[in-house]
Amino acid sequence: MQILDGKIVSQSVKDDLKSKVDLLKQQGKRLPFLAAVIVGNNGASETYVASKTKNCDDIGFLSTTLRFEETIPEDELIRVVEELNSDNKIDGILVQLPLPQHINNESIINTINPSKDVDGFHPMSTGKLIQGSPTFIPATPYGVMLMLAHYNIETNGKHAVVIGRSNIVGRPMSILLSQQIPNGNCTVTLCHSHTKNLKEICFQADIIIAALGKPGFLTADMVKENSVIIDVGISRVADESKKSGFTIKGDVDFENVASKSSYITPVPGGVGLMTIAALLKNTFNAYEMREANSK
Ligand code: GUN
Repeated sequence: MQILDGKIVSQSVKDDLKSKVDLLKQQGKRLPFLAAVIVGNNGASETYVASKTKNCDDIGFLSTTLRFEETIPEDELIRVVEELNSDNKIDGILVQLPLPQHINNESIINTINPSKDVDGFHPMSTGKLIQGSPTFIPATPYGVMLMLAHYNIETNGKHAVVIGRSNIVGRPMSILLSQQIPNGNCTVTLCHSHTKNLKEICFQADIIIAALGKPGFLTADMVKENSVIIDVGISRVADESKKSGFTIKGDVDFENVASKSSYITPVPGGVGLMTIAALLKNTFNAYEMREANSK
């Protein structure tokens, strides 16, 4: 069994980006700039956005976080995104989800200029992804693909089972793994809450991507020997022994599944770090496209 170490892989992505930014600085050029928008007081969202902007700082990107009250009307939030769209300094826009109930996610996401859609959630990005055209790939599935590539994991002709059909992770993940691309060419089964015989399906998998958000869901009796296990779950579970009052758990029962697997991602220290690295890559790509188009 080998641990797929998100720390090592994300650091190599960040080192590469940092050297590109260092070169831009030497040349006196404009630097990549990410704008994050956060609405309300969701503790997990605050943590994610803080981590995203800290990683920007670490590699030399500029970043800003715009915070709004839970009660902000939808049309006002749309105006915020429109202003970021027309701000020439900004390369990437990220509206942290979830948004409050009264705001329609789609209305906000659809307002983001597709050329700044570093989350890859705009229908234009999704459409291109399905076509196999170059586009912004949602950060978590993109991060998983980077991880598979780094460890040279054979995916060609393998049966990949994706558990969870969210627009953020499961669905784009299933598309990427099925595509005719490096680390693709899988036969993919996309499972969800209505799937019958989930255990039997998982047991036939060479690769399992657990992205359903249920701590410890994937147990050892569901996986076959030598499978590749990718854990996308990041749930806060109450833990009185921790100062924060919670501990972070993945969707995989790591202690028991690890010994059966050939490769496995830990939580924390796995896919979560790759998500941020992939977002930074998307932001750099947005910057490069913007620069190329301004010439
Ligand atoms: N909420 C959970 N994951 C994500 C993500 O990748 N991007 C944004 N914007 N919100 C999220």
